Amino acid sequence: MHRIKLKINGDDLEHEVDARVLLVHYIREKARLTGTHVGCDTGNCGACTVIFNGKAVKSCMTLAAQADGAEIMTIEGLAQNGLHPIQKAFMEKFAIQCGYCTPGMVMSAYGLLTANPSPDEAEIREALEGNLCMCTGYQQIIEAVAHAAEVMRGAGKKK
Ligand code: FES
Ligand code: FES
Repeated sequence: MHRIKLKINGDDLEHEVDARVLLVHYIREKARLTGTHVGCDTGNCGACTVIFNGKAVKSCMTLAAQADGAEIMTIEGLAQNGLHPIQKAFMEKFAIQCGYCTPGMVMSAYGLLTANPSPDEAEIREALEGNLCMCTGYQQIIEAVAHAAEVMRGAGKKK
C-alpha cells in the first residue's frame, strides 16, 4: 500500500492505495468523481482523460501511486463555475451524442487550448487523436473545439 496526497479540482485528498490501482479507478471510486469515464482501460479510447500537472493524460495509463503530490483536474473541476466555454461549444455544435467520450474529449481539448489558444484544424485533430468517438464522426467535435478556442480568445479566458 502507498499513502498518497494530491489535489483534485483544488481539494486536498489523502488515501492509502494499493500499488496496482489505476488513477482512473482512484478518481471514480475513492475521490467519487464519476465524470471521468472508463472505456477500454488499456489506453486506447481516451474516455478517462484528465489534466495531470497541467497536461492531458489518460488516467488508465497512470497508477494512483504515481499521482502522489500531483494536481489533477477532472471534468467536474472544469465546470466549477458553470459550464466551461468548451462544454458550451460541444453543446452548441452538436458534438455530443451518447456522451460517453465527451469528458475525455473536453479534457483533451482543454489541454490543447491551455497550451495553444489558436490551434488550426490539424493541431486540433492531432490533440484529439487519442480520443475515440463511436457516434459523431468527429467533424462536430473539431468544430466545437475551434469554436471554443475563438470564444476563449475573445473572452481572454484561460481557466
Ligand atoms: Fe483510458 Fe480508454 S479508459 S484510454
Ligand atoms: Fe458517443 Fe462520442 S458521443 S462515443
